[in-house]
Amino acid sequence: MIEPIRYDRETDKLLLIDQRKLPLKHEVLELTNYKDVARAIENMVVRGAPAIGITASYGLVLSVANPGSKDRKENFRAARERLGETRPTAVNLFWALDRMEETFRRSKGKGLKGSLLEEAERIKQEDIRANREMGKNGAQLLKDEPQILTHCNAGGLATGGYGTALGVIRGALEAGLEPFVWVDETRPRLQGAKLTAWELKQVGIPFKIIVEGAAPSLMARGKVDAVVTGADRIAANGDTANKIGTYGLALDAEAHGVPFYVAAPLSTIDLDLEKGQGIPIEERKEAEVLELEGTRLAPEGAKAYNPAFDVTPANLIDHIITERKVLSPPFEEEIASAFD
Ligand code: MRU
Repeated sequence: MIEPIRYDRETDKLLLIDQRKLPLKHEVLELTNYKDVARAIENMVVRGAPAIGITASYGLVLSVANPGSKDRKENFRAARERLGETRPTAVNLFWALDRMEETFRRSKGKGLKGSLLEEAERIKQEDIRANREMGKNGAQLLKDEPQILTHCNAGGLATGGYGTALGVIRGALEAGLEPFVWVDETRPRLQGAKLTAWELKQVGIPFKIIVEGAAPSLMARGKVDAVVTGADRIAANGDTANKIGTYGLALDAEAHGVPFYVAAPLSTIDLDLEKGQGIPIEERKEAEVLELEGTRLAPEGAKAYNPAFDVTPANLIDHIITERKVLSPPFEEEIASAFD
């Protein structure tokens, strides 16, 4: 199993696989304080909604384990604020920070670090269990030898270690369905070509990388049986924010009668938001579009606009696969019942 995030109890260090370097280099960064953790989330050393939440939880553990010259509680509060400013779209971040804050409130001075570490470990283990359940639930929607198209990376690297969309694909493999995957390369940061392809190789699932513009033509030629993506935030009506380009894929799938599935744990559902319009969309630096691995592509002086996510309206989604059950439209009621 891929373990992108690990806390070393002996040394109080957070160990993160540096996802910016994969697949060419496998480097592990060792972080000792929350400021470095916040930067690692912003710079996408670690990314993917559940993984961001888990990492931030350990960032809060570090804030009391290694507070420097500051008072532990004061440092925890500063860390809570700083980590909450890192990436706005993935609701798992705020969900995890709230859980950690609740633990902080309940713990008394001496056992503080232990209680926070226990809660962070629980968040990670719950995520892995939820992913496996999603895998089993999602596999039931797929036929034998399915050709599945996925976008970005919603795999072990983006979670506690198994994956949401890739978890469903792994669930299909474990159910004996022999899946094949079309991997959308996913501009601008190429999470598909780099990370999803790397993971599929690790687990032995056959795949081919495609440029994003290829998806509709593959669908038109009957080469896609289902699209499965992850999510960064799902509103109470089922509208879903995910990596930029997901909305276009959902429109392509609708036009070609291809089922479109979103796989996400309940921690990605934001019951406080009625519809997708309220989801904050992160806008990242234009350099990610204008350059490739530090090499300028666009003419000097060219400008770029770089929204990192888009919102797919619920009416384009056939099912939302959660750890509890597979949700079907109309999603308002189904989502509410999944939380009962
Ligand atoms: O910008 P990223 O790489 O963090 O975006 C990740 C995605 O869009 C994933 O699909 C989503 O977070 C789900 S990860 C299980």
